[in-house]
Amino acid sequence: MKIQPANRRLGILLSGRGSNFEAIANQIASGKLRADIAVVISNVETAAGLERARTRGLETVYLPSKQRQREDFDREVVEILKKHDVSLVVLAGFMRILSRVFLEAFPFGILNIHPALLPSFPGTDAQQKTLDYGVKFSGCTVHFVDDTLDGGPIIAQAVVPVLDSDDAETLSLRILREEHRIYSEAIDLVLSGRCEIEGRRVRIRD
Ligand code: GRF
Repeated sequence: MKIQPANRRLGILLSGRGSNFEAIANQIASGKLRADIAVVISNVETAAGLERARTRGLETVYLPSKQRQREDFDREVVEILKKHDVSLVVLAGFMRILSRVFLEAFPFGILNIHPALLPSFPGTDAQQKTLDYGVKFSGCTVHFVDDTLDGGPIIAQAVVPVLDSDDAETLSLRILREEHRIYSEAIDLVLSGRCEIEGRRVRIRD
């Protein structure tokens, strides 16, 4: 199946510091990534990423998620994204599981980045799990979001070594540098309409 977003308008969802969002915004500003950030949505009022987005003059929305039914919250997020004519949703440190309401509104239209080489170490604290397990290489993964935890079809990965001297912070930083590079590349691939999905495999056409 060929993936072809209807336009190049991105909706960014974040809950924290927003360094991936900022890297994407920088790539767009420098003309290396042809896309528009239509809206930045956060469920955390104090998220640094939200402030970074405001400083850039982007459209931002804070939508509290606490004590709300997952489906109700997701329905509202979808409404905002549709209102802004978003065709590709980019999760950038968005700390929530998406319900069917959200997934069905954007089939193969939601991307996530994870700080490990999936399917190893899904979920939270991936870098600490990586160190505890003792693997010698780690990295990051950009994937389509489906109804499994960090389990959707993989678009791009990058590898970094795990050093004996690493702690979670130094490993996270090394991985983050690669995250900032491959997220924009993966977004570009998806927007370009060159991605084809067959089962779990995402193939890139020339
Ligand atoms: C990143 O490590 C990303 O892989 C994970 O959440 C973190 C978000 O960092 N999904 P930032 O908010 O983009 O700086």
